[in-house]
Amino acid sequence: MTIELRSDTFTKPCEHMLAAMFKAQVGDDVFGEDPTVNQLESISAALFGTDAALFCPSGTMSNQIAIKAHTQPGEEIICDQLSHVYIYEGGGIAFNSSCQVKPLEGNRGRINAAQVEAAINPYDIHKPISSLVSVENTSNRGGGSCYQMEDLKAIKKVCQQHDLKFHLDGARIWNAMIANNENPKQYGEIFDSISICLSKGLGAPIGSVLLGNVDFIKKARRLRKVFGGGMRQAGYLAAAGIYALENNINRLELDHQHAKSVGNALAKKSFVGKITPIETSIIIAEIINNYTAQSFVEHLKKHHIYCIPISSTQIRMVFHLDVTPSMVETIIAVITEM
Ligand SMILES: Cc1ncc(COP(=O)(O)O)c(C=O)c1O
Repeated sequence: MTIELRSDTFTKPCEHMLAAMFKAQVGDDVFGEDPTVNQLESISAALFGTDAALFCPSGTMSNQIAIKAHTQPGEEIICDQLSHVYIYEGGGIAFNSSCQVKPLEGNRGRINAAQVEAAINPYDIHKPISSLVSVENTSNRGGGSCYQMEDLKAIKKVCQQHDLKFHLDGARIWNAMIANNENPKQYGEIFDSISICLSKGLGAPIGSVLLGNVDFIKKARRLRKVFGGGMRQAGYLAAAGIYALENNINRLELDHQHAKSVGNALAKKSFVGKITPIETSIIIAEIINNYTAQSFVEHLKKHHIYCIPISSTQIRMVFHLDVTPSMVETIIAVITEM
């Protein structure tokens, strides 16, 4: 038995999801004629209360399309220094959009309205034009931390006052909503664009959806083609996404409980230092004294438990639907005996 905690992207489709994929009605989505893709896009838009949606192959592509659609070359994007769009998308902001980033030192991946306001460049021919604010909820590198809705509204207000667009990297937005008892429409009301992932905690094998108004999605659809993301009979994949949306959101609460239980076991050990407060599905823990992050990972591997060092002193574990309650008991037993 392998216990995979390296990421929630390791999930494999269950039998029912595979059956839904197998039965999907398909067509050529580049021609707009795949009924299952169209259905996924309208379900997603209806959930968030946005006008339109676009099925994309990955979260990286949907973030990058959004950034390209909202900006002009030479402009500046404001985000937390731990943002996925900034540190984990291969320099895509520079490569695809010819923009630069003003990275802010937030609180576990989260920035606030005052920081955003202070980061906006005044009109000055020497300075890039600030045109977009991007936030991530939950924050991956922030250990699954969540924004409070009021804080997002305050950032939105600053964006409106200064005529900036506001993008949400919602790869794990479902985890944030479950943790804070929110609904998708609250997010749809705030953001100019939202990227949601179906292939993280929701368990689909592939796929993200980009949400926004009709003009934005029209532009995004063209950019998806330019980026090579126009897919043909993508309904087989969209069917997995629809299954994920219909079946796998409410159960995320269990992943959060699992993360907290394992976090409690870690907190009792002398070789564990600071644990980032566990709000959702992710644990980031500091490893000290007689273990290093690497030797901790190696030890767990001997018990077929896989997690990753994210720095020389920190490990990360991510809980998801392929981690069962009995696996959690095994993880706790192994940690307790160390
Ligand atoms: C916060 C966040 N945004 C975007 C992505 C990119 O998603 P993908 O791997 O589908 O490109 C990830 C991937 O883990 C992520 O954690």
